[in-house]
Amino acid sequence: MAWTRAAALAELTDGCPLLAIVGDEEVALYRVNGAVYATDDLCSHAEASLAEGDLRGYIIECPRHGGAFDIRTGEPKHFPAFSPIRTFPVKIEEGSIWIDTEA
Ligand code: FES
Repeated sequence: MAWTRAAALAELTDGCPLLAIVGDEEVALYRVNGAVYATDDLCSHAEASLAEGDLRGYIIECPRHGGAFDIRTGEPKHFPAFSPIRTFPVKIEEGSIWIDTEA
């Protein structure tokens, strides 16, 4: 485990994804019903930032071609996305979001 601070919890609001640079990784953060999730920011289909997409429930829709992923598992949910994205363990400590990108 290699926990790295990603952002202040106060920066992340429900339903509004946030891009965070965590070490060498670009990570998209999401908050749904108070719980925090983290995935790759880069869509697995082509070059697009998922943090700029629309979050509906636990599904993030890519802003470029409309592919979609479940933020809890990284599984693709809508064409043209067919490869999963990575998800990362998250913990909240002292008002900060911590991500383990090596898990
Ligand atoms: S770049 Fe995300 S669906 Fe094409």
